[in-house]
Amino acid sequence: MSQLKIALLGLGTVGSGVVSIINQHQDKIKQMTGQEIVIKSALVKTPDKYKEEPAFNTIEITNDISTILSDPEVTIVVEVMGTIDAAKDYISRALTAGKHVVTANKDLMAVHGGQLEEIAKEHTVDLYYEASVAGGIPILRTIVNSFSSDMIQSVKGIVNGTTNYILTKMTEDNLSYQEALIQAQEKGFAESDPTSDVDGWDAARKMIILARLAFGMNISLEEVSVQGIRGIDVNDIVRAKDLGYKIKLLGQARLIDEKAFLEVGPVLVPETHLLASVSNENNAVLINSAALGETMFYGPGAGSLPTANSIVSDIIAVSKNIANNSCGKGFNSYHQPSILAEDAIIYANYYLSLHLENRPDRLSALEQIMAEQEIAIEKADQQLVENDISQVVIVTQPVNKAQIKDLKAQLEKEVDIELKTMYQIMDKEV
Ligand code: HSE
Repeated sequence: MSQLKIALLGLGTVGSGVVSIINQHQDKIKQMTGQEIVIKSALVKTPDKYKEEPAFNTIEITNDISTILSDPEVTIVVEVMGTIDAAKDYISRALTAGKHVVTANKDLMAVHGGQLEEIAKEHTVDLYYEASVAGGIPILRTIVNSFSSDMIQSVKGIVNGTTNYILTKMTEDNLSYQEALIQAQEKGFAESDPTSDVDGWDAARKMIILARLAFGMNISLEEVSVQGIRGIDVNDIVRAKDLGYKIKLLGQARLIDEKAFLEVGPVLVPETHLLASVSNENNAVLINSAALGETMFYGPGAGSLPTANSIVSDIIAVSKNIANNSCGKGFNSYHQPSILAEDAIIYANYYLSLHLENRPDRLSALEQIMAEQEIAIEKADQQLVENDISQVVIVTQPVNKAQIKDLKAQLEKEVDIELKTMYQIMDKEV
């Protein structure tokens, strides 16, 4: 049986998972591909640390990338290092050297994916990145293959495990944000610097990749509206619960009149909705499409073996392309001009929590400001929180982004009305 030799860039949590899946599932992989997949070499910073490890004793460990890139036996380079600059350099050089590349690097693929795909095409090699979004959930290839004849109208997802874990613990165990973040870090879900998780950037990058495959559009990070979870306090979670919702950090990519809109932010999800039942570090992606209607994909969004499974499935896809002589066609052949939806056509319901000086005219002043922006109120509730401060919670009827921005600007001018939080509400029918 012929051998397909690969090299790993990185031997950390995910790299070790790839080694273990290839070793343990080799018989099935041989049947699926007609080839034996062999990990020939691995790039690490300090080779001595790995040389005594029995699981790696058949792998040539090096800290010199050129040894791997100049090795004619290495057909596929698997990047699991996770940085942007070095990974971009190594992947570009690997593609240019005629090697296929599989990567789990969402940061890189969100920002430089278009450019790297061009290099891959130019050199007739494959560049696959199934593991970059929602870890173990096989969502990218499902969008590309199984939705190829359908028109996707929206992709909504809980695509960050760290923030979902934090919000679950705040909701179910009444932990503070800080306590829940520490737990998430101890369990190893959060990135080494959790800023990217808690401020929504990790989810935003994953939504860019999902939109690229679902809509064929390349949206840049600056074009995504991003809000994280740092501002959520337990009071919002309790008030949302009273109204029948759970707060989730949701990534949304929507097509409105064929124009794209991408956002990440806390959303009040109806407790009865499937997305509300996605707890802890799990991820889920909900797709709405013209023919199929609504479908949801649920599973582990990170972790060694789940992420490694997505990587090995990419390696198998490359090996089949090599056998069929069909490499270099790109992960996705669907491309559209990237047109962004304007604020006036992006509608949603909103939850607002405000603190008002406890005077009889303040509530009517607030209603007056909302009426001026033509924002209709569906529900309002006022409670005294301190002697002279009351909290008003408002649920709006559908309003557009332009109205919401104007409302925010108006409220900022008021000295005795303070907007504490403003989150979108997911449609109960969605
Ligand atoms: N920090 C990421 C998360 C890891 O929490 O989802 C997987 O991309």
